[in-house]
Amino acid sequence: MHILVLNGPNLNLLGLREPEHYGTQTYADLVALLEQEAKHCNITIECKQSNHEGTLVDEIQGAYGKADGIIINPAAYTHTSVALLDAVKAVKIPTIEVHLTDPDTREAFRHVSYIRQGCIATICGKGFAGYVEAMHLMIAYCKDSH
Ligand code: DQA
Repeated sequence: MHILVLNGPNLNLLGLREPEHYGTQTYADLVALLEQEAKHCNITIECKQSNHEGTLVDEIQGAYGKADGIIINPAAYTHTSVALLDAVKAVKIPTIEVHLTDPDTREAFRHVSYIRQGCIATICGKGFAGYVEAMHLMIAYCKDSH
């Protein structure tokens, strides 16, 4: 089983960026945690981060025929991007939306998620643990659908 983990804009600045919301651990810490967990679960993962909407669309399209699942934190593009929703619908790869914080309890402009309707689940407000939970959920989902 192979999972693509995609992170959107400004998540490369984890650790530096608004630590009161996002904590003090870095993006490299997140990748290390997920790679360790993937090894433990006997799957392969690829972690990508981009600040560019089109690059994230390209990554989703590129996963077609390669990834069994996508875990995505689209960051600010969650609230603006129809293109990311269309991309996950186009490739039909099971996708889980993850957020470090719970956007539904923050500013009103964060309450809309376009990608949500293309996702099999959403995990919010659990920090890095949310990505690990998403990985376990994706493994169970893929096993069930085979
Ligand atoms: C975020 C929440 C978004 O509203 C915000 O724009 C982010 C991070 C989160 O992980 O909590 O960049 O996706």
